[in-house]
Amino acid sequence: MSKPRPLLLAAAVSTLCVLASTVAGDVGKPLVTAITKDAATFLYSAPIIRNGQPSHQLVLDLSGPIIWSTCPTDHRTLECNSVACMRAHRFHPPGCPHTGYGKPDDDNPYRCKCTAHPHNPVCGDTVSGDVTRTALSANAADGRNPLRPVTFVAVTSCAPESLLAKLPVGSVGVAGLARSGLSFPAQVAGTQKVAKTFALCLPRAGTGVAIFGGGPLFLIPPERPAITDMLAGDTPLRTYRGSPGYFISANKGIAVNQAQVPLPDHSSLTIGLSSTIRYTELRRDVYRPFIRAFDQAMGQSARVTPPAAAAPFHLCYDSSKLSSTRLGYFVPQVHLMLDGGKNWTVFGGNSMAQVDRHTACFAFVEMKEGKTGYGDRAAPAVVIGGFQMEDNLVVFDEEKQQLGFSGLLTGRGFSCSNFNFTMPA
Ligand SMILES: *[C@@H]1O[C@H](CO)[C@@H](O)[C@H](O)[C@H]1NC(C)=O
Ligand SMILES: *[C@@H]1O[C@H](CO)[C@@H](O)[C@H](O)[C@H]1NC(C)=O
Repeated sequence: MSKPRPLLLAAAVSTLCVLASTVAGDVGKPLVTAITKDAATFLYSAPIIRNGQPSHQLVLDLSGPIIWSTCPTDHRTLECNSVACMRAHRFHPPGCPHTGYGKPDDDNPYRCKCTAHPHNPVCGDTVSGDVTRTALSANAADGRNPLRPVTFVAVTSCAPESLLAKLPVGSVGVAGLARSGLSFPAQVAGTQKVAKTFALCLPRAGTGVAIFGGGPLFLIPPERPAITDMLAGDTPLRTYRGSPGYFISANKGIAVNQAQVPLPDHSSLTIGLSSTIRYTELRRDVYRPFIRAFDQAMGQSARVTPPAAAAPFHLCYDSSKLSSTRLGYFVPQVHLMLDGGKNWTVFGGNSMAQVDRHTACFAFVEMKEGKTGYGDRAAPAVVIGGFQMEDNLVVFDEEKQQLGFSGLLTGRGFSCSNFNFTMPA
């Protein structure tokens, strides 16, 4: 029996040295990556190059605490008593109790191989996977253009092909973006010596952009000020029931057309953000008064019976009777009235979905019971989904523990597909 392990190890170490020398000049620079939207699943992915192979992408998951992907069969596995292994066990997926850090090595019963719990945010499956190291590449950026590729070694979890179910064709795993030690932004911050902050600009159409490690971020036309300096608001990040995800609170509730929506419970509303649900979901006790308020504010003149294609929406309108503006259809604005006094404002461009040529529907949905993993009454009041974040710049700043947001960029003549991905000569 051959024992190729020491050789492999040496090879891995020497590659690490080569990688380390290529990145030295770009340490301290933020990393930028494109964001694509999959037409079939509406999930957002980043073409982060893994182990030197391009044309692979990782699905972006704001609630995911780790990075996971399929692995080569000869991968190395970290030891259970490593710091990375402790970090991999800081958060557990819903319904997945902590049952130790790993399992005995087949070749050496005295060695404990670290395993983590990669979770598929779409189908909800969780498996056990070896914790390993993977070389990932993205581009160092000056805020206006990508400059050059940078490779860094990240702690990741392996997962079987079967865990890729319901993810876009071409994806090899998930890049967790949550508030944990092993998320993609945390590992960029640690290896690149940049701030633990990132900004997402999810595209409605075309290619969006994410920047990890701080601004500025400029969109075309480049002579305009940095978009990161034009934020409409920021609000404190909250923690919620041990989840690693991003939460804010709306201590004054929700307003539609400047009028407060009457809610049965007057306490502050918890709002989560998710990149893996399409439309914003509201808990049943909040959803019903909310759509009633929108229905009243809109009036009946353009209202139509929702066509079959409109499910799961309840309020639909004849779009030829709505006027169009740079902020989308001219409809009543929704204000989430946040802690700290700022409003997250949803204009027509983020509130109305065109379901067929003649019909636009109010694109908020009722949360399905039992789906969130919190138990029904304990679910957040609102989870903002992808459609409502598109063409907004959202800044997740773990250093200041704040969430910043731009509001709908089309109102200022920008869109999230306006980043200049051309490398300067
Ligand atoms: C937030 O929205 C509410 C309701 O529309 C409005 O009364 C308030 O003035 C807004 N606050 C800010 C800071 O714009
Ligand atoms: C994009 O960036 C390249 C490289 O800096 C530059 O030559 C080009 O003019 C930019 N394009 C636009 C539309 O600003």
